[in-house]
Amino acid sequence: MAGRAIQIAPSILAADFSRLGEQVAEAQAAGADMIHIDVMDGSFVPNITMGPLVVEAVAKVATIPLDVHLMIAAPERFLKRFADSGADNLTVHIEACPHLHRTLAAIAELGCRPGVALNPHSPAGALAEVLGIVDLINVMTVNPGFGGQAFITSMTKKIRQLRQSAEAAGKFIDIEVDGGITDATIGAALAAGATIFVAGSCIFRHKRGIADGLAALRRAAADYSI
Ligand code: DX5
Ligand code: ZN
Repeated sequence: MAGRAIQIAPSILAADFSRLGEQVAEAQAAGADMIHIDVMDGSFVPNITMGPLVVEAVAKVATIPLDVHLMIAAPERFLKRFADSGADNLTVHIEACPHLHRTLAAIAELGCRPGVALNPHSPAGALAEVLGIVDLINVMTVNPGFGGQAFITSMTKKIRQLRQSAEAAGKFIDIEVDGGITDATIGAALAAGATIFVAGSCIFRHKRGIADGLAALRRAAADYSI
C-alpha cells in the first residue's frame, strides 16, 4: 500500500462553533483534504448536531470537498437538501436504509459521491451487492453519536475485508475510518487499507492548535507507510 495518497478529513464536530468559519479556514490552510460534517438527528443516534444550514455556511469558506456524514433516520428525505447545500460526498448509514441501493443511486443522481457507513456491529459482507455503486465506505471505528471516543481496534479486520472486496470488485473505493483516529491509531487503519481518515478531537482540540494536530497525524501516517 506504500505510496497510496491518504486524505485527512477534520471533523468539525470538535470545532469551536462560535468561530466555525475561522476554524474551517485554518484546517484548510494547514492542508486538510476535506471537511467532515457530522449530521445527527437525535433518533438514529443519541445526539443532535447540525443540518443543511451548517453545510451551507461551511461551503462559503471551504474550497476543499465537504464530506457529509448523515447519522439520521430515513436519510432519503433530505438528500437533495444536503446536495443543494454543497455536500460533495454524501454518506448514509446502512442501518438507516431499508432501500440502500435506491438511496445510493439517488445520491449519485444528485451529483454527489455516494457513501455508506457501517456501525461497528454491521459486517463487511452486508455491502456485497452495492460495491458497484458506492464510491466511499465509512467504517465507523466508534459507535456513532459523539466525538472523543476510543478507537475500536477490532475494526481493522473489517477494513481489510472491505479493501479485499473492493479490489475483487475491480474498482477503487475510498475506505474512510471515523472515530478515535489519533497519531496512535492512524497507522493501524492505514495498514488495513483505509484511505480517508476522519479526525475531530485530535485536530480541533490539539493542545498546540489545528495545524499541529494535522501535522502530527500526517507524520504518524508517513512513519507507518515506510
Ligand atoms: C462520531 C462522528 C465522528 C466524530 C469523530 O459519531 O461520526 O466523525 O466527529 O470524532 P473523534 O475524532 O473525536 O473521535
Ligand atoms: Zn463522522
